[in-house]
This record gives sequence, structure tokens and C-alpha cells, in this order.
Amino acid sequence: MSGNNGVKYYAVFAAMLFGFFTLVAPVGQSYAATDTDADAKAKKALKIEIRATRKEIRKVMKLARGKAKKAVRGAMVYRAYCVLCHGSRGDGNARMKKIHGDLPLKITKQEPDYYAKIIKGGGAAVGKSEFMPTWDGELESDQIEDLVMYLSMISNPVRRGEVTFKTNCILCHGVNGDGLGRASVLFDPPPANLTKSDKNDAYKKMIITMGGEAMGRSSVMPIWGQELSEAQIDDVVAFLGSILVIPPPD
Ligand code: HEC
Ligand code: HEC
Repeated sequence: MSGNNGVKYYAVFAAMLFGFFTLVAPVGQSYAATDTDADAKAKKALKIEIRATRKEIRKVMKLARGKAKKAVRGAMVYRAYCVLCHGSRGDGNARMKKIHGDLPLKITKQEPDYYAKIIKGGGAAVGKSEFMPTWDGELESDQIEDLVMYLSMISNPVRRGEVTFKTNCILCHGVNGDGLGRASVLFDPPPANLTKSDKNDAYKKMIITMGGEAMGRSSVMPIWGQELSEAQIDDVVAFLGSILVIPPPD
């Protein structure tokens, strides 16, 4: 699992870069073809926008990469110490299942503080079974931090989706999903304000997978079905659900 995760995150960054260059390159070309004063002005303004965008993207990528790095290291610790009881996916499908009988070995979505507490102090520290050992003496504190990051990511679709969104979509849809990304001014119709979407999850999944054109919308909305796995797209849709400022439609 650790290897897979690593590959996945790097694939996300690669996709991000790809998206950025495929977006910016054609814009540059279209301006090169025109030569009026107004165009020269627009071209200059665009250059400034693009520079600012690059900076913003670099910042977000650095943050995401830091998190991903921690999670990948955490995955390696997990593999060495936790798989036997919790299974390679944290779903409790593990060798020790028989021995533990009815004890739930699935790792569910929890707050980071809770993960840190049970890993350091064992089940007893949170009022659970002592079959969950204490790891305080055995693991370094930064290994425990890495584990917490890993568990937070694998167990929470919204957080996984947030990383995918912030590494692929913000140039157009904005860091907050409000449609005000740096490149949004370039497009008509503009990138959708995803915090006010009136579309349901199934529709969102389709337009993300197949792109705008296939849905009779703007071809500027890219096709993501090649770059992102189905699971990543499901995660992004879950993230989009979490940023809605109006109730989701049925
Ligand atoms: C010897 C078996 C065993 C090993 C090894 C083990 N655990 Fe556990 N763990 C358990 C059991 C049993 C529980 C459930 C306790 C209960 O529900 O009463 C548990 C519970 C947990 C929970 C709480 C899950 C939830 O959703 O509430 C977390 C988090 C956890 N373990 C993380 C880890 C990590 C990280 C490692 C590796 C460093 C690890 N465990 C290694 C047996 C184990
Ligand atoms: C190159 C700019 C661009 C990028 C990058 C982009 N989008 Fe879009 N997206 C658009 C545009 C433009 C529309 C509006 C299309 C229309 O109205 O015809 C749109 C529409 C959407 C919609 C439809 C929303 C609704 O309420 O109808 C969703 C969902 C969406 N995008 C999700 C994403 C996700 C997730 C990503 C990243 C994986 C992404 N987009 C990346 C430009 C972009």
C-alpha cells in the first residue's frame, strides 16, 4: 500500500503540472496571434496574472507535498507495525482477526488527536481494548506524527479529496472552490462556483470524469478520467460536498 500511495501522490503532482502547462501554453499562443494595443495591454496583464498564479500553485503544492511526504512515511511505519492487526487498508481484514474475535479492528475516521492518543497510549488510553498496544517506547514521536497523517488521509475521503482538488483544480475554480481562481477571468463561461453548485454527486462525478464538452458544457472544463483514478474522483466529489454553502440537491 505504501508504494501505491507514493505513486498516487506523485501522479497527482504530475497531473497538476500537466494541467498547468496545457492551460497556460494555449493562452500564450492565442495572444501571439493578435497585435493591437489593447491586446498588448491584456497580454501584459495576463503575464502578471500567470506569474502570481505560479507562485500560488507552488505554495499549495509545497504544502500538499509536505503532507503527502509525511503520509507516505507513515504508510511505511504502518506496514511494519500495524498491518498484522488492522490489515493493509486499515479495514480490519487482517491475520489477527481470528485471534481478536469480536474486537473491531477497522480504523475509522477520527480526529488526529484521538489517533495520536491511542497510538501513544494504546487502547487503554481511550477506554478501548488493551489488545491495541502502546507504541510510545517503540516508535519515535515523529513516526507517530507520520502515522497520524497517514491514518487521517486514508480514513477521510474529504481530506484526500481536498489534496486532489488543491493540486488540480484551483487555477480555475479557486482555492476555496468559489470559481475565482487566477485563470478564471480568461474563460467564458467562467469556471463554476463549486460552493453554490446545484448539481448532485452523480452529475459532478460525470463532468469531472468526462469533461465539460461531453456534458454539453464548456470544453474548458478538462477531462480528468485519464489523470485521476475513480477513487480520487469520488474523493474530490466528497470534498466538493463539504464546501457547499447551500444544501445539496436530492
Ligand atoms: C496486536 C494487534 C494490534 C496491533 C499490532 C495494532 N493494533 Fe491498533 N487496535 C487493535 C485493537 C484490538 C483495536 C480495537 C480496540 C477496541 O476497539 O477496543 C485497535 C484500535 C486502533 C485504533 C482505533 C480505531 C478506531 O477507529 O477507533 C487505531 C487508530 C489504531 N488501533 C492504530 C494502530 C496503529 C497505527 C498501529 C501500528 C503502530 C496499531 N494500531 C497496531 C490492535 C492492534
Ligand atoms: C482549465 C480550467 C478548469 C480546471 C483546471 C477545472 N475546471 Fe471545472 N469547470 C471549468 C469551467 C469553465 C466550468 C464551467 C463549464 C460550463 O459552465 O459550461 C467547470 C465546471 C465544473 C463543474 C460543474 C459544476 C456545476 O455546478 O455545474 C465541476 C463539478 C467541476 N468543474 C469540477 C472540477 C474539478 C473537480 C476540477 C479538478 C479536478 C476542475 N473542475 C478543474 C474549468 C475548469
